[in-house]
Amino acid sequence: MHDLDPKLEALKERGWQEVAAINQALATGQIDEEGWHAAMAGLIKPAYLAAQNPYAQAGHSGDAETWEATRGFIAEALHRDGAFLDVGCASGILMESVHRWGANQHLRIEPHGLDIIPELVQLAQQRLPHWADRLHVGNIRTWRPKARRFDFVLIRPEYAPAARRTQLIRHILDEVLVADGRLIVFVGSEERGVRRVESTIAAEFPVHGRVEIPHAGDQRLVRRLFWIDGCGA
Ligand SMILES: C[S@@+](CC[C@H](N)C(=O)[O-])C[C@H]1O[C@@H](n2cnc3c(N)ncnc32)[C@H](O)[C@@H]1O
Repeated sequence: MHDLDPKLEALKERGWQEVAAINQALATGQIDEEGWHAAMAGLIKPAYLAAQNPYAQAGHSGDAETWEATRGFIAEALHRDGAFLDVGCASGILMESVHRWGANQHLRIEPHGLDIIPELVQLAQQRLPHWADRLHVGNIRTWRPKARRFDFVLIRPEYAPAARRTQLIRHILDEVLVADGRLIVFVGSEERGVRRVESTIAAEFPVHGRVEIPHAGDQRLVRRLFWIDGCGA
């Protein structure tokens, strides 16, 4: 841990020290995987529920402008009409964004949401009553959609312990995405020269596209995402 630069780590992930401690507790057997999810949710829930705007209620510390600057490049992964599952939807703000970004590109993107924290799903349902029946509670590691599969599924790497990441991707490709759908992995901030998250899955899954943008906080960092297209694509 001592060779990590705290400034860089904090820019990459708020609460990185707490997350590192939770990962360590899992690695040493102090907690099991259920405990890992509970501990991660315990970091998020009070902060998101105490927040006063939908950006902060989804973990973003800025405003509408910084939201667009840091999330808007997700639009580059949209290439056709379709149903879009935002995994970890929190307040539902990204569901609204992908709908709008799609429309800007003359695409009809129908957003759906899933979150592991029931209170956040309730919050999203209150904010977005017209989409209430598209919002679900569940852990994406095991969740199976009852009604339909999705053309796009967006995840973040932190939704499973790192050692379970490929298992998570396999589950989504097999059970959540349509055969020719697109799984988007929103990596967030990483060092410019090292595709750390992608390197953990690249041996098992071909990566079909990626986007990265500069990070305003530090030129050593970029914000990035990549996607995996289903085998029917
Ligand atoms: C940072 S927010 C994401 C907000 C927005 N979707 C985005 O990407 O900017 C992360 C959300 O993921 C949820 N989450 C974490 N692990 C999850 C899992 N395994 N399954 C479903 N949701 C999860 C958390 O409860 C939290 O609300």
